[in-house]
Amino acid sequence: MSKNNVEQYKVTSEPFYKSVEDEVELYEAAYKARMPMMLKGPTGCGKSRFVEYMAWKLQRPLITVACNEDMTASDLVGRFLLDKDGTRWQDGPLTTAARIGAICYLDEIVEARQDTTVIIHPLTDHRRTLPLEKKGELIEAHEDFQLVISYNPGYQSLMKDLKQSTKQRFGALDFDYPLEKDETDIVAQETGIDVETAGKLVQIAHRARNLKGHGLDEGISTRLLVYAGQLINKGVEPVSACIMTLVTPLTDDPDMRETLEAAVNTFFVK
Ligand SMILES: Nc1ncnc2c1ncn2[C@@H]1O[C@H](COP(=O)(O)OP(=O)(O)O)[C@@H](O)[C@H]1O
Ligand SMILES: [Mg+2]
Repeated sequence: MSKNNVEQYKVTSEPFYKSVEDEVELYEAAYKARMPMMLKGPTGCGKSRFVEYMAWKLQRPLITVACNEDMTASDLVGRFLLDKDGTRWQDGPLTTAARIGAICYLDEIVEARQDTTVIIHPLTDHRRTLPLEKKGELIEAHEDFQLVISYNPGYQSLMKDLKQSTKQRFGALDFDYPLEKDETDIVAQETGIDVETAGKLVQIAHRARNLKGHGLDEGISTRLLVYAGQLINKGVEPVSACIMTLVTPLTDDPDMRETLEAAVNTFFVK
């Protein structure tokens, strides 16, 4: 595998990541043991940013795959392609990661069908192998390879949950929205708005998060707060910015929208 191939997956500049507990140290220890890791938590709370940061800190290439229900095992492992010279094998992202010793991040793994999920099994136990059945090749994972998956417990239904035989191959870290002070700093840092305004956005999120399970499927994520801050920083009037990013994406229910708008109006006046 050429040097270039590795370089293209390196995280070259330090991603901004504010640690919330001891997750950085715990992950480092897990990486040293090459333990497969599962990051659990609601959407937009910092899981992907954390993986980017850790890949940078550990100086490992990072290959991210956004999982979806149409994804097949071939999309992960690879397939034969037809070109003018005949057939040519092309590695999928999981195969590339196993060969070059990357951190492979399967984002929202629950979205993938279970027959897709089982192909990670031999990679996530003592074997650390990946069979390319169509090609008739058995890959032994590079010693630096690590598999990381993300998992949103909120979305799970009986149809869409990981099997115990999959779950019990991973160490896991729980993620949640950062504490008020940390989240305020994150929103201010990420968007350039002042800390006072960022604090108000976080307060609005706290109100909405209390509505989870009482009409809302999910609370307002840190990601959406960053969106709100970005618009405000671009000069958008704060109430409009909040409606566009913290209310409209979240729900179509008129009563719930009204409740959220009231929360916005508590902190910002037009
Ligand atoms: N601890 C954190 N440090 C820095 N930025 C964060 C943190 N948590 C959340 N963010 C911000 O929230 C956004 C969404 O986080 P992301 O990692 O994409 O969420 P997830 O992968 O959990 O859905 C990031 O792009 C970043 O702006
Ligand atoms: Mg993510």
